[in-house]
Amino acid sequence: MSFLVQEQVALAPKTTLKTGGNAAFYTEVTTVDELEKAVSFAQEKGLPFYVLGGGSNLLVSDAGYTGLIIRMAMLGRDYGQLQADTQELTVSAGENFDAVVAETTTRGLWGLENLSSIPGSVGATPVQNVGAYGVEVADIIPRVTVFDVETKKIITMLNTNCLFSYRHSIFKDKKNYIIVSVTFLLSVKPNPKLTYADLAKLEVAMQTPLSIRDRVIAIRANKFPDWNLVGTAGSFFKNPIITVANANVLLQKYPDIPTYPELFGKVKLSLGYILDTVCGLKGFAVGSVRLYEKQALVLVAGSAATTTDIKNFKKIISDAVFLKTGITIEQEVTEI
Ligand code: EPU
Repeated sequence: MSFLVQEQVALAPKTTLKTGGNAAFYTEVTTVDELEKAVSFAQEKGLPFYVLGGGSNLLVSDAGYTGLIIRMAMLGRDYGQLQADTQELTVSAGENFDAVVAETTTRGLWGLENLSSIPGSVGATPVQNVGAYGVEVADIIPRVTVFDVETKKIITMLNTNCLFSYRHSIFKDKKNYIIVSVTFLLSVKPNPKLTYADLAKLEVAMQTPLSIRDRVIAIRANKFPDWNLVGTAGSFFKNPIITVANANVLLQKYPDIPTYPELFGKVKLSLGYILDTVCGLKGFAVGSVRLYEKQALVLVAGSAATTTDIKNFKKIISDAVFLKTGITIEQEVTEI
């Protein structure tokens, strides 16, 4: 494909929330050469740019995006040399993440099975350190290959340089690194991660990558709406991480809030529980925007919803949480 920039391209259909306006400029890149051309195009015109993957964690302004949207469409999967216990797999950023999980689990490789049924592209997974059911991509990514916008060079970034933490990485802050491929280190030997309560029940015979994938798909089908049918971005907010001291005060009032220990005297709280039980907001709706009745952390936008509706709604939700708990919540979804 040759390099082509389109003007005034609707972004709503390219995101799973399905709201927002047009991109002033839009291009799809399938090679590093096209990516370099896209970045140069934006730089020469003095435009901001934003790299779009699967659009599953993105809220586009109703006014649209005034710069260049670079849709990452690089494809390719490269299985490295099989080692005694491990198998490396390098995947281009534009590949569909769940298709990769389907393939590796079918091949009996361990590592990605708990991350089944997550929408979006491979290149987006390190950015917010996608995680589910006791596994984060950071656990199985030895390195990420990026295009450095300033030097126009390809750089390999080792796991430690990616500064991964809960739903965060260096790529959230440093916009000059565009991910072009991600390397996963998979295990050939059985390595089930069954700490999550619903998975712990899996009988030994069912502890294969494919069976765990099937179980995760079933769990998720029950907790998340179908993004083909409604607007959603999975969890809209992050679970808050606060000091143990502050958590203890809150737990005196609400002792059943699920907590998960973090480093440095901190603790992560379940916002889904807080929204549901502490604030009574599960299923709460304003117009066609609501908190999903099966998982309060999931925002659902009906077809009539606009981005402004979602922004107004999220303010109501964060204010309610602050009033009840004193916690200022952060959203997981990126806004442009
Ligand atoms: N809970 C409630 N009511 C609710 C929702 C949750 O009481 O409406 C309780 C649950 O019973 C459970 C706890 O809250 O005790 C945690 O709920 P859950 O296991 O569903 O996970 P979560 O913390 O709400 C996180 C991730 C999800 C991931 C799941 C499973 C974040 C922001 N979200 O949700 O990731 O799938 O764990 O591991 O960390 C995403 O990031 O988009 C996402 C879907």
